[in-house]
Formats: sequence, structure tokens, C-alpha cells
Amino acid sequence: MTKPLASLTDFDLHKRDFGPEFIWGVSTAAYQIEGAHDSNDKGESIWDRFTLNTKNIHLGQNGQKACDFYNRYKEDILLMRSMNIRHFRFSLSWSRIMPDGQGTLSTAGIDFYNRVIDFCLACGITPWVTLYHWDLPQALEEKGGWTNRDILNWFETYAIHCGQLFGDRVKHWMVLNEPMVFTGAGYFLGAHAPGKKGLSNFLPSVHHATLCQALGGRALRKVVENACIGTTFSCSQISPYSSRKRDIKAAKKADALLNRLFIEPSLGLGYPSKDLKVLKRLAKYQKPGDEKNMVFDFDFIGIQNYTREVIKYSFTVPYLRSKLVHATKRKVPTTLMDWEVYPKSIHTMISKYNAYEGINKLIITENGAAFEDKVVHGEVDDRLRLSYLQAYIKEVYRAKKEGLRLDGYFVWTFTDNFEWAEGYRPRFGLVYNDFDTQKRIVKSSGKWYKEFLVDP
Ligand code: GAL
Repeated sequence: MTKPLASLTDFDLHKRDFGPEFIWGVSTAAYQIEGAHDSNDKGESIWDRFTLNTKNIHLGQNGQKACDFYNRYKEDILLMRSMNIRHFRFSLSWSRIMPDGQGTLSTAGIDFYNRVIDFCLACGITPWVTLYHWDLPQALEEKGGWTNRDILNWFETYAIHCGQLFGDRVKHWMVLNEPMVFTGAGYFLGAHAPGKKGLSNFLPSVHHATLCQALGGRALRKVVENACIGTTFSCSQISPYSSRKRDIKAAKKADALLNRLFIEPSLGLGYPSKDLKVLKRLAKYQKPGDEKNMVFDFDFIGIQNYTREVIKYSFTVPYLRSKLVHATKRKVPTTLMDWEVYPKSIHTMISKYNAYEGINKLIITENGAAFEDKVVHGEVDDRLRLSYLQAYIKEVYRAKKEGLRLDGYFVWTFTDNFEWAEGYRPRFGLVYNDFDTQKRIVKSSGKWYKEFLVDP
């Protein structure tokens, strides 16, 4: 089966080409897979609340059941093991561990993550844990969520608890998942939970997330022995639509916002407000000492890349004066998310991150694609995803061969799951999930990844 599949493209790389230390894994997130949204004393999260308004999500769907990972984690981890996957990235649901976001801890929630972690380890799978993948406890949102500076205390307490509870066995940590997306989509555009809009929500959220990203790192370092601590950023190659000056300038602004806003303050470079003036308004939320407290010496930086963005000048877009030129309009190959398939983007981003001083390790913590998947005679032959992954992995290899620093790669994602505002329509998994029966079918891409990961 695998040979004819692999030969669909000219992919001739092997795991050994990336070196024995290179990490290969899969990534997931709590709200997207767990389900069991109100089991035991789990508290409500902003995604539980946001999805109650059916207008917010494609077909009014929600993550109440998702992949039922809460009950099926053993089967999934065993499946992962059978696919030779040895590194599993998942996130902790804050409101499962601390139902109100602060104060009381939930024994049931803690037990669940203990079971998942222990089972991973028993199966020879290393857990990579994200503290925050977008599901803030609703009780904290009632107090302003990320716009309230008190989140510094709430988050620090949460991080310390997680480190103390699981740090004896979990050594690989990520503080935040893509702060640009949860502040931008959640607190500026209103397209993600909690559905807030405007600069007055966005700017304080950005500043507090920047502080929490460093603060979370410090908290984990204090309580977890021999921890390897990272955080993750969304990033895309930004190309100007034309060589006209104003498109180039527009692209620079978009790059400051989409790629540089969170990494640069953590490296001590401050916010990129020279290239995006509106960021100067962040000063309103800054207190003495913040500049220093935004910095943390992460053991690794996780970058997450799917596509590239083409940017054009636009008079009508406030502050940014730039807009995306959608892939469909450009008539380029796209995924089901309407994202351009553009493998070079991952190479570009690896190079850009290599150019920063002070990054220790660099890992691709997410890369993957959604395509239309069909079950035919019990099989899912997802050739488009397979060639997408191979093309991107080839670019990863090109970067490594050029001597760029890169230490690992995680596919987004293991099983198809709840894709936020897009509901269950975009399937990103290596494993197909029938959401009615919860039956998993390993897709052709999953079979290929399994074979690729066999130890030489
Ligand atoms: C990332 C996010 C994931 C997943 C993926 C695919 O931005 O971290 O949760 O949704 O995109 O869209």
C-alpha cells in the first residue's frame, strides 16, 4: 500500500535524513478533541459559551462531544503508538483543572490528565503539554478575561499548579498556543471566543498575553525540574501583492502584526511598533518593569505554519491599511480552508526565526492541511494531504540541509477534530473520524507517516 502512495510524488526522504535527535510528532488541543464538556465538575470555558450561540460556528456545531478523547484516550494513544508516533502534543483545559479558573482544583480533571500522561509514558510516547490553547475559563472571562491585568495572577497560579501536578512526568511544555490568533480572532475580530471586538479589547489582551507567555515560562522553570519550556507562534510568509511601494509597505505592516508581535518582546526586542504605528498605543497598558518581564529565555520556540499570505494596500482597513488577497482570487492551489498550498512558506519562516538571536531550539509545532476526505470501502485515500505533507517536509529538509537550526516537526493533527469557527467540516487528521460513531480510520497520509517513522 505505502510504496505506490509514496511514489505518487518524488518524495525520497527518510526519517534518518533529519538526524537521530529530530523529533517527529502530532499536535492536538483540548477543546478540539476532548468532548465531555460538562463531565464531573468541569467548569465552562469561553469556547463552551461561544458555541452556544449557533451563529458563531459553521452549522451551529460545538465541541461538546468532539472526538470523545476524554473517554477514548487509551484507544487513541494506542493507535498513535501503532503508527510509530512517539511525541504527542496536547493541551490542558484550564477549566477542567480549575473549574472557576482560580481557587478550587478539580480532582476529576487532574485525574484525567494524570491518566493520559501515565498512559502515554507507558506506551513510550513523550507528552508535550500546552498550558493554554484558547479555552479560558468562562468565570475569568466574566471578569474581562485577557483584557484584565489580573490575568497575570490567574495565569501564574494556573501554571504553577500544572507544573507541580504533572511536572514530575511532563518535561516538555508550551506556555501559549498562537497568541496572535486568540487575541486577534477572539478580542479584535470577534470571530473566535469570547467574540470581543475592537482595539480597546485587542491591545490589552496582546499586552497581557505577552506578559503571561514569559511569566508562564518562569513559573514552569521554578517548579519543574529539568523542564524544556517553549511557547508557540502562528507564522506565514508574507508576500506583497505587487512591487509597488504601497503594497510593500502594507506587507511590512502585516508582517509586524502577524509574525513579529509576540516573538520580539519575548526576545527583548520590544513590540514592532516602528513598522506598525498603532502598536504604540500598547504603552497605555504598560507598567514600569513590563518591558523586562516580557522577556523569557525559552528552551525552544514552536512555530506553526500552514500557508503564506499575499498582502495589498487598502485605504479602507483602519490602522493596518493592508488587506489579504485571498488565495481563491489568486487562482492558486488551496486547501479546504482556502489557504494557499505554498510549501516554501515553511522554509521562509524557519530562516526568519533562525535570523533572530537568542532562540535556542526551533520546532515546527504544527503543520498540516484540510481537504475533502471520502470513505470508500472503509478506506480514506487522502492523496492531497499526503502530497501537501511531503512537500512541506521537503522544505523542512531543505532548511536543515542548509544548516538552519530546526529540531522537530509535529503534524496538525492526529484525528479529524473540531476546527473552531469552522466546526467539523475541515478535516485535518492523519486519522479520519466518523463523528457519529467515533470510529477512526487511518488515512493514506497516516499510513505513510507510520512507515516514514519506522526506525531505520
Ligand atoms: C492553528 C491552531 C489549531 C488548529 C490549526 C488548523 O492555528 O493552533 O488549533 O485549529 O490552526 O487550523
